[in-house]
Amino acid sequence: MNDLQKKISDIGVVPVIKLNHPQRDAKALADALCAGGIPIAEVTFRAAGAADAIRIMRETHPEMMVGAGTVMNTQQVDEAIEAGAMFIVTPGLDPVIVEYCIAKNITVFPGCTTPTDYHTAYRYGLEVLKFFPAEQSGGLAKIKAMSAPFPMFKVMPTGGIGLKNLAEYAAAPVIAACGGSYMVTADLIDNGKWDEITELCRKSVEIVKEARAK
Ligand code: 3PG
Repeated sequence: MNDLQKKISDIGVVPVIKLNHPQRDAKALADALCAGGIPIAEVTFRAAGAADAIRIMRETHPEMMVGAGTVMNTQQVDEAIEAGAMFIVTPGLDPVIVEYCIAKNITVFPGCTTPTDYHTAYRYGLEVLKFFPAEQSGGLAKIKAMSAPFPMFKVMPTGGIGLKNLAEYAAAPVIAACGGSYMVTADLIDNGKWDEITELCRKSVEIVKEARAK
């Protein structure tokens, strides 16, 4: 793992964010996440202003590890890098995007769920993969089964992870970090429930620590 991956893995939780109003919400959201002990954001390109949100978070919180999610093409990789993104996350494994990120020297977490995906990721020398959509693809049982032939990978599962199952995932050594939108839902963001977001982050960090200590 590189330094960034280690730092993300030490914290163990990656908020997956969709921000419709970056000018209004990006700084407040970054404040709330950092206050809750999760200075990490995967800002998805599912909302038009993703690059603005990344830029604002990086400018207002230089200590934060801000990346771009739901990246669908190399143009978005460029936009993300230009905005200050420190990593790229893709829903699936697109060799064109992976090769582009390697050439640009930016960490990429491609979504992988099958042995074929893992083979391709292995060929690229990747070490940490997104596992998406986690629960719907077989959850922790599948992640563990995949580890038998592919012990070289750590994974970052997202999709269906919340406070209810975070401990179970976090306890497994194969898990680098768990991603999710449960602490940054549209309801929480649109209604400015920043304290609630901070509280959910605190709880998440605590759950991860406890699960790993067992
Ligand atoms: C992602 O893109 O990683 C997922 O949509 C996050 O999944 P969740 O909303 O179920 O947490």
